[in-house]
Amino acid sequence: MPYSIHPFRCPFETAMLTEKLSLRQFDTHDLESVIEINRTCLPENYAGFFFIDTYRSCPAGFILAEVGGRIVGYIMCRVEHGFSDIRRLKFVRKGHIISVAVLPECRRNGVASELVKQALKALQEADAEECYLEVRSTNASAIKLYYKLGFSLARKVAHYYADGAEALVMAIPLRKEAAPSSDTVGSQTA
Ligand SMILES: CC(C)(COP(=O)(O)OP(=O)(O)OC[C@H]1O[C@@H](n2cnc3c(N)ncnc32)[C@H](O)[C@@H]1OP(=O)(O)O)[C@@H](O)C(=O)NCCC(=O)NCCS
Repeated sequence: MPYSIHPFRCPFETAMLTEKLSLRQFDTHDLESVIEINRTCLPENYAGFFFIDTYRSCPAGFILAEVGGRIVGYIMCRVEHGFSDIRRLKFVRKGHIISVAVLPECRRNGVASELVKQALKALQEADAEECYLEVRSTNASAIKLYYKLGFSLARKVAHYYADGAEALVMAIPLRKEAAPSSDTVGSQTA
């Protein structure tokens, strides 16, 4: 008897196909869920107060993704002032994507794409001229995601991470005409 050619899906994965993906702003009551996703997905872990301080500095830039009422991903940003990662020697107000993660069983459904697009919109509304982030140079899936959304490589930083790994700094302009479309944000059926 032949093996089934249909991929196995756990109940939650099946839910991903039928339930609506929605985005909403973080609330302090969500801290535990966000910390759990952060620890599950990333080696860069933060104390609770860091998440709360970051949220308070830019509430609209801390966004959660929910499917069927369950938090499945987050993005956390803040607004900073510093030299542009796009234009030489220009001092700018810029968004910084500090952390983004999606639970392993919910990946490749466009969740991170929607989180990043919504975060860029929030940062643009907070008058940031551009947005940047750091990503491990070995993190091929995240790098592909950022290129797909319009980020460019700004520079490489050796020994950026605690374990000595190199970071790529990637950046995107947030001028009105350059901002990515967000017409699907919050309305995608995953
Ligand atoms: C990186 C991460 C956030 C992507 O989340 P996601 O919800 O799966 O991303 P999306 O479904 O929106 O993917 C968008 C695109 O990114 C690229 N991509 C994402 N995951 C990929 C993978 N595993 N392999 C290759 N490309 C990938 C693809 O181009 C994809 O588009 P496609 O599915 O049409 O091919 C997720 O894998 C994750 O949480 N990883 C661990 C934490 C992490 O690395 N965070 C980033 C730190 S800088």
